[in-house]
Amino acid sequence: MTRRPYIVGNWKMHGTRAMLSEARAIDRAAQRHMKVEVALAPPYTLIHPIHREAEQIAVGAQDCHHEDGGAHTGDISAAMVADAGASFVILGHSERRQDHGETDALVRAKAGAAFAAGLRVIMCCGESLQTRESGGAVAFVRAQLAASLPPADQLPAEVADRLCIAYEPIWAIGTGVAATTDDISEMHGEIRALLVELLGADHGAEVRILYGGSVKPDNAHAIFAVPEVGGALVGGASLTADSFMGIALAASDPLES
Ligand code: PGA
Repeated sequence: MTRRPYIVGNWKMHGTRAMLSEARAIDRAAQRHMKVEVALAPPYTLIHPIHREAEQIAVGAQDCHHEDGGAHTGDISAAMVADAGASFVILGHSERRQDHGETDALVRAKAGAAFAAGLRVIMCCGESLQTRESGGAVAFVRAQLAASLPPADQLPAEVADRLCIAYEPIWAIGTGVAATTDDISEMHGEIRALLVELLGADHGAEVRILYGGSVKPDNAHAIFAVPEVGGALVGGASLTADSFMGIALAASDPLES
């Protein structure tokens, strides 16, 4: 089955209620691009207001805790974000791994909690510039992903509907310099092979692999033409409806972009 391209906006720590008009504009535009699945991961405080109004787009969280509840001041559980209207969660983003010391084991535990709460998971992976320059990018990403995903027997049965991978080289995030299409092609091919190893041929072939890192309307067309790119995780360019939907348009119909 060919799944629709999946274009996900990661608003990071941007957005107060003043941004709701932008989310509305994105939702309206998404209704005109039904060949693409459009989703937004705003800060926690905007999950419910965006979910309440959205007619087309899915709303997700940028993280969740690995436990169901308890004495964890400032944290939020998978069930809480689901209750607020989130249908998915981004996990293992490099900013969480770097800023909050999240290990592969912790990210794996969070994925287990998210699946148990009925959420879809976008599992991020990606190497540093130093790792890429030393020639170790593929080995690093394979190991990171294998250790961050729950074991196959703990994944939901309909895993291709519940799991996406986002390959986000750290050096490409927020820098304006996306990975080359050759690098994306090589890494997505490696990730696909790993997924087939881990999940078996059927499921492993179907899980979508998104690219993230300085995706913009003007490079989206070339990135979406790369084999095994099933969509994009977009940071900076998701903050306005114009640029975000420019990316969705490139995914919707390559000829129109
Ligand atoms: P960027 O961020 O598009 O601003 O590079 C991508 C991400 O971190 O998900």
